[in-house]
Amino acid sequence: MLKVENLNVYYGKIHALKDINFEVKEHEIVALIGANGAGKSTTLKTISGMLRSSTGSITFGEENISHVESYKLITKGLAHVPEGRRVFLQMTVEENLQMGAYTNPKYMKEGLEDVYKRFPRLLHRRTQVAGTLSGGEQQMLAMGRALMSQPKLLMLDEPSMGLAPILVDQIFDIVRELHEQGTTILLVEQNAGKALEIADRAYVLESGRIVLSGSGEELAQSEEIKKAYLGG
Ligand SMILES: Nc1ncnc2c1ncn2[C@@H]1O[C@H](COP(=O)(O)OP(=O)(O)OP(=O)(O)O)[C@@H](O)[C@H]1O
Ligand SMILES: [Mg+2]
Repeated sequence: MLKVENLNVYYGKIHALKDINFEVKEHEIVALIGANGAGKSTTLKTISGMLRSSTGSITFGEENISHVESYKLITKGLAHVPEGRRVFLQMTVEENLQMGAYTNPKYMKEGLEDVYKRFPRLLHRRTQVAGTLSGGEQQMLAMGRALMSQPKLLMLDEPSMGLAPILVDQIFDIVRELHEQGTTILLVEQNAGKALEIADRAYVLESGRIVLSGSGEELAQSEEIKKAYLGG
C-alpha cells in the first residue's frame, strides 16, 4: 500500500532522514520506533507532503505521491494525525469532525455516528470548543477527525503521548479495532513496548536511519531493543 524508497530529507544543513526505505502492506499495522529526534515525525510529514524529500520516492497504492499536495492525499485515502494533536482550538468538537469530512461530505452523518460510537466522550462534548478539552480528549478528537475522511492508511504520530495509562490502553484498543475493520496503520510511538505488541512489523530509526526491522514479536524479543527501548 505504501512504499518509501531512498528518502533523504534535510532541514537546511541538518540531514534528518538518511536513505530511508520501508513499506506498509495492506491491512498491516507497522510501527516506527526510535528515540527523540530519530526522525519519526519527519518521516510521516514527508509521506503526507508537509515536507519534501530531496531524493527518493513515495508510492501509495500504484501512484507516486512524492510531489502530491497534502490536501489531495486525503482524498486518496491517506490521513495523518500529527504529533501534538493540532485540532482547531476555537471550533467545537463537532465542527472539528465536520472539517475532517470536507473531502467526503456524503459521509458526514454516518461518519459522525461512527466517531461518536468509538469515542462516546466526544458525543458528550460535541458543542464544547476543542481548546477546553483535556489532552486525551483532544487526541480522540484528532483521531476522530482523521476517521471522517474514511482513510485507507491512517498515520498516527505518538497517539499515546501525555495520556494516563487507562487512556493509552483505550487509544491502543481503538487502533486495534480500526485495524480489524480493515484500516492499514502506520504508527509512530515512543511507547515501544505497546507499539510492538500490536504491530505486525516494525522499523527502528536511529539518527535518521533505519537500523533494524522485523516482526513486532521479533523486535520485542531482541536484546538490543529491550536494552534501548524497553527499559532492560
Ligand atoms: N523544522 C525543523 N528545523 C530543523 N531541524 C528540525 C526541524 N524539525 C525537526 N528537526 C530535526 O530533525 C531531527 C528529527 O526530528 P523528528 O521530529 O522527526 O524526530 P522524532 O523522531 O519525531 O522525535 P520525537 O520522538 O521527539 O518526536 C531532529 O534532530 C530535529 O531536531
Ligand atoms: Mg516526533
